Amino acid sequence: MTPTQHTPVIVLGLGAMGQALAAALRAAAVPVTVWNRTPGKGADLVSAGAIAAATPAEALRSAGTVVTVLLDHASVHETLDPVAAELAGRQWINLTSTSPEQSRELARWAQSHDIEFLDGGIMAVPSMIGGPGAAVLYSGAEHIFDSHRGTLETLGSAEYLGADPGVAALVDFALLSGMYQMFAGYFHGAAMVSAAGIGAAEFGRRAAAWLAAMAQGLPEYGRVIDSGDYRTDVQHLAFQKSAMDAITSAGRDVGVSSVPLDGIAALIDRQVAAGHGALAFERTIEELR
Ligand SMILES: NC(=O)c1ccc[n+]([C@@H]2O[C@H](COP(=O)([O-])OP(=O)(O)OC[C@H]3O[C@@H](n4cnc5c(N)ncnc54)[C@H](OP(=O)(O)O)[C@@H]3O)[C@@H](O)[C@H]2O)c1
Repeated sequence: MTPTQHTPVIVLGLGAMGQALAAALRAAAVPVTVWNRTPGKGADLVSAGAIAAATPAEALRSAGTVVTVLLDHASVHETLDPVAAELAGRQWINLTSTSPEQSRELARWAQSHDIEFLDGGIMAVPSMIGGPGAAVLYSGAEHIFDSHRGTLETLGSAEYLGADPGVAALVDFALLSGMYQMFAGYFHGAAMVSAAGIGAAEFGRRAAAWLAAMAQGLPEYGRVIDSGDYRTDVQHLAFQKSAMDAITSAGRDVGVSSVPLDGIAALIDRQVAAGHGALAFERTIEELR
């Protein structure tokens, strides 16, 4: 069997994520050139066969597809603006977390310099990269995704979401919104149970099982929202309002701030005040859009 032929990759940025990506590429025998603003972060990668470059311009003297995994949108421009001419005619995959509008701006900048552009949103922490739980969402130039798919799948599952270069970032940030709300709820609950001497780790184990079970219902929530039919016989908005009031006061009774719950409680309150108390909890989304 012939081994997969990978196009070489130039990784710009060796923070925790850049190092994990470059290591996974090397583990799959992808030829890799690396650069980092602060020297010294590529030693392990060089031991694994990567070539270290001292500057972005030197890195771009290697052949291959460019991958940026830098701090933010500003650091991408700071790194690439001076080497735009060297990037012309090449393919660039941005895995730096940027907002949808920032990703679209990068795509316009790339086009104005004759650079082909694919944006990506990494749904993983560095330790997950290259393992079964990692996923990366992509949008932008489909032919870059198609021609590099085998290489991209060495990082995690790879999914192409469309030609709009901002859509991968949009879905990425929407998923992160859900994640942060989950963490906020965990912090609130852990603070509540600490009043009874229950440790955060013990509560974390219990919450992980509970939240995983509850998360199974999300596609059904989505089906109701997409249908626009919010009639229900169970757990309508008025029921949710009394549940939120009870949970909020239970927290306050033990001196715990209700801030993590205030947002969702306000949305439910407004729906009930507008006369939708008999309709389904899923109607809360109408308060947001
Ligand atoms: N870590 C995660 O769990 C995770 C998950 C998903 C997505 N991401 C995204 O991946 C990207 C990198 O994250 P990370 O975890 O690797 O962050 P990190 O460990 O903080 O590393 C940041 C990287 O950006 C570089 N950098 C910062 N400012 C720069 C500038 N002005 N010019 C050039 N280089 C600059 C740093 O270089 P120096 O070493 O010189 O400071 C370093 O290589 C971020 O956009 C992050 O949102 C991370």
